[in-house]
Amino acid sequence: MDETLIATINKLQDALAPLGGGSSSPVDLPQITVVGSQSSGKSSVLENIVGRDFLPRGTGIVTRRPLVLQLINKRATPKPQQDLLDINTTKENGDASENNADEWGEFLHLPNKKFYNFEDIRKEIVRETDAKTGHNLGISPVPINLRIYSPHVLTLTLVDLPGLTKVPVGDQPQDIERQIKDMIMKFISKPNAIILSVNAANTDLANSDGLKLAREVDPEGARTIGVLTKVDLMDEGTDVIDILAGRVIPLRFGYVPVINRGQKDIESKKTIRQALQDEREFFENHPSYKAKAHYCGTPYLAKKLNGILLHHIKGTLPDIKMRIEHSLKKYSNELSTLGPEMAESPTSIALSMITNFSKDYNGILSGEAKELSSQEL
Ligand code: GDP
Ligand code: NA
Ligand code: MG
Repeated sequence: MDETLIATINKLQDALAPLGGGSSSPVDLPQITVVGSQSSGKSSVLENIVGRDFLPRGTGIVTRRPLVLQLINKRATPKPQQDLLDINTTKENGDASENNADEWGEFLHLPNKKFYNFEDIRKEIVRETDAKTGHNLGISPVPINLRIYSPHVLTLTLVDLPGLTKVPVGDQPQDIERQIKDMIMKFISKPNAIILSVNAANTDLANSDGLKLAREVDPEGARTIGVLTKVDLMDEGTDVIDILAGRVIPLRFGYVPVINRGQKDIESKKTIRQALQDEREFFENHPSYKAKAHYCGTPYLAKKLNGILLHHIKGTLPDIKMRIEHSLKKYSNELSTLGPEMAESPTSIALSMITNFSKDYNGILSGEAKELSSQEL
């Protein structure tokens, strides 16, 4: 798997974020977005893909603002003295296993602050959610932007969204259903969005509102992947084999069954490592799944996602190139009217970033064409 292309795309996305970000960004890049009913397990799935505990999860409406989560694979580097000291200090506090000097998070709204403790990241998400929505279950379409740097993640951009819900509670508006639907549609209707349609295995797939929305914006299923959660909660003697075999609602990229931590596991603070091990054992020992266990579970989902992302990026390269050239021209013109004293202006910084990206892009395009054509998806 070649990550150069995705890494470069993420770099550009990052560079352009301060110029407007989100939907108004001059370059619309591929993102993986979750859609599904409230409490179907969307945040749990994302958290397992990242491999760290940091997202607010639980019963009821927990995710109340979009979270744009940029994962950046960062090779472990020799640790500077300060980091070693941090680890030792943490050890004395008794939770060293959850903190690592080579993994950290950064929020766009808190530039230059590195979060090494993932529990603090979760607290900041909750704090920043409440800051825009109040404490009483309100929602807001304004995204929170978070980057996670780690040697243990694939370089991907993921978007966590509130779940589909029908009845307003707390401070929620009467038209909560439509507001959440609009928020989701804004993200998944972009042709560059890869849709993770999350459905609990113990509910009827035919009633899935998330799948319905996904089919509205992606009727061919060219960018939708099904995820079946809560396979562990299915009635004895039932399984998701018919869905996996495409006999219920077929999806071009199929479905991946997963098992996340349940509410009891959250309360007892079961680690992700333990959860992934339990997930593997479940599929390897279950009579319905053991023959195909390597097509089940979170690691396979992550692998599949990255393949689909690469495939998608390949398809959108010409469009991205056109947009970049357009931005380049626009910023060049803008800069020439500003004069020499604006050499360090955001416009000129953006211009040099876009110029660099164009160079990278041309290099990638020539090298990548061979890579991708030989890649199995
Ligand atoms: P979201 O609202 O879609 O983001 O769902 P969450 O990730 O917040 O999960 C909702 C609840 O379902 C939490 O209590 C989770 O612990 C639980 N849950 C999610 N996935 C699974 C699963 O695969 N198995 C079990 N047993 N519980 C799960
Ligand atoms: Na929930
Ligand atoms: Mg959630």
